[in-house]
Amino acid sequence: MSNEPVKPVLEVRDLSIQFGATEVVSGLSFSLAAGEVLALVGESGSGKTQTALAVLGLSPPSAMVTGSIVFEGSPLPDHPAKRRALRGSRIALVPQDPMSSLNPYHMIGGQIAEVMTLHLGMTASRAKIRVLELLDAVGISDPKRVARSYAHQLSGGMRQRALIAMALAGEPRLIIADEPTTALDSIVQARILDLLGDTVKQFGLSILLISHNLAVVSRIANRVAVLYAGNLVEAAEAAELFAEPRHPYTKALIAAIPRLSEDAGLPRALPGTPPSGSAAGEAGCIFRQRCPVAIPQCRSVKPDWRLWNGHGAACHRVPEGEASRAA
Ligand SMILES: Nc1ncnc2c1ncn2[C@@H]1O[C@H](COP(=O)(O)OP(=O)(O)OP(=O)(O)O)[C@@H](O)[C@H]1O
Ligand SMILES: [Mg+2]
Repeated sequence: MSNEPVKPVLEVRDLSIQFGATEVVSGLSFSLAAGEVLALVGESGSGKTQTALAVLGLSPPSAMVTGSIVFEGSPLPDHPAKRRALRGSRIALVPQDPMSSLNPYHMIGGQIAEVMTLHLGMTASRAKIRVLELLDAVGISDPKRVARSYAHQLSGGMRQRALIAMALAGEPRLIIADEPTTALDSIVQARILDLLGDTVKQFGLSILLISHNLAVVSRIANRVAVLYAGNLVEAAEAAELFAEPRHPYTKALIAAIPRLSEDAGLPRALPGTPPSGSAAGEAGCIFRQRCPVAIPQCRSVKPDWRLWNGHGAACHRVPEGEASRAA
C-alpha cells in the first residue's frame, strides 16, 4: 500500500495494541488517501474495532497502544479535549448499532443539528436547514418527518442513514464505518453501502470500512487490508486482491464467498478458529496452525512483508518481494 503520490489523509505506522501480555494488534501499518475507501477485513476478534478505536483516540484505558497515527499530516493530539474536537468533526464514526449511538430522547434532527452548532459554530437556524439537506443527501425521501422523529420510530436502515447524515454533518475528512450494515437485511445493506460509496464521491472524503465480510466490502472498497489475529497478512487494490489473492488466509476467505468460489476448487471454509491475539514477540507465522500449505519454516520464522506492484502479503510461500516493510 505504498506508491501514494498524494499525502495520505490517515497514516498508521506500526500500531500495536496489548491487553496485559496479549497482543491483539501487532505492528499494523496502513495509509488512506483522499477519496479512497480502504476496507479492513478479518474474522471476529482479529482486532478491527480496536484499530478503529485507536485511530479515534478511544482505546479502553487498559489497552497499551504504541506506534504512530498521523491524520492530515499531524500526529493525533495527546490532549483528550483536542482529540474529542477532531473526532466530532474531522474524523467521524459510523458504528454498527445505530440504536446505541442515537439518543432515544431527542429528535433525530436536533441531534444532527447539534454536531453543526457544536463543531462548526453554525447558527441554530442555518443548522436546521442543513439537517434537511443532509437527510435528503442520504436518500431519505421525507426529511422533515424524519428530522422530527425519534430513533425508535425509524427502521434500522433509516436509522443507519440518519447516522451517516450525522457523520457528514461535521464535514469530516475521514469516516470510520465499523460494520455499518451487519444489523441490516441484505437489500438494505447493499443500499447503505452504495450510499457510503456515493458519499465519498460527492463529499470527497475517505472511508475506513471495517467488516468481517469480504463480499460486503467488495462492493465499494478501492483497497483491501486483511487482518488475521491482529496481523496484517495481505493488502492490495480490491480488484487485484480478488483476482490474485496471495495469502492462504485471503484465498480461504474468497473461497468462502459462494458466488466467487463456484469453480475455484478451494475449500469453502477454514477448519479451526483463529487465536485470540498472540503473545507479544511470538515466533513463527500467526496463521500456521490453520494453513493448508504450511512448511517447517512457518513454525519458527515470522514471515516478512513481501510487496510487489503495490500488492503485499506476509507469507513464506509468496516469492520474495521488493523488500519493503510498508503496507
Ligand atoms: N477491554 C478489553 N480487554 C481485553 N481484551 C479486549 C478488550 N477489548 C477487546 N479485547 C480483545 O481484543 C481482541 C480484538 O477485539 P476487536 O473488538 O478489535 O475485534 P474485531 O475484529 O472488531 O471483532 P468483531 O468482528 O467481533 O467485531 C479480541 O480478542 C478481544 O477479546
Ligand atoms: Mg468489531
